[in-house]
Amino acid sequence: MKIMAGNWKLNFTGTEATEFLTQYKKLVKDSPNKVVICAPFTTLSTLARYKKETGIITGAQNLHPALKGTFTGEVNAKMLVDSKVEVVIVGHSERRAIFGETDEFVNQKVKAAQESGLIAILCVGETSAEREAGETFSILQTQLEGSLKGVTNAKNLWVAYEPIWAISTGDPNKPSPIPTDVEIMEAHSFIRKFLDKQFGKNGIPILYGGSANPNNMNTIFKLKNVDGALIGGASLVAEKFAAMANWHE
Ligand code: PGA
Repeated sequence: MKIMAGNWKLNFTGTEATEFLTQYKKLVKDSPNKVVICAPFTTLSTLARYKKETGIITGAQNLHPALKGTFTGEVNAKMLVDSKVEVVIVGHSERRAIFGETDEFVNQKVKAAQESGLIAILCVGETSAEREAGETFSILQTQLEGSLKGVTNAKNLWVAYEPIWAISTGDPNKPSPIPTDVEIMEAHSFIRKFLDKQFGKNGIPILYGGSANPNNMNTIFKLKNVDGALIGGASLVAEKFAAMANWHE
């Protein structure tokens, strides 16, 4: 059993999601995996409506840590729970890079998500420049330490290792490189050790993210400490996401 978490990013209206889900449910009868889709806020209700038919768990891509206040445009954990959301991505590299999210802010989000009963998918990962400079593990250490400061709840936490250089650009003519098996295993084992040290015995799943798709999933899912995938581009194509949802050993 693996976790297949789709990240739709800035894609799909309710109507488009309905088309996707109608196609998906014809292709996936009874997934042996835990399947989640993290959708835009406006598409959450459509996704939740299809949970019974598709088995797909409703996820969001972001939240604000405050429970109320003068934060125009924001949505909090309580609102997500009320919208039948069960899982939320926090600290995605796009939010860190484009919207300036710091580890400290991501830390508040992890706590706010968990306090409301949501599972937080914490994303960590290095840029290509950081990898080339030999800083991969120190970056992971800093992000994990900062984002998980004071977090004690291992139950509502998943971690996604997403090397930023492997995340797809959305341009089919510019495919991103995929890390080698060794690179994935080294990063996942580093994260596993960090989590064991902070949480003691824990079953925190570690997902791989960055151009994961039906062609490379067999290789990736065989690697030690890879408990699933965070899937961007491939989660937008029903056939591809269905193939991943149907994955089994
Ligand atoms: P990708 O995105 O699968 O398109 O590379 C993964 C992500 O950014 O979560």
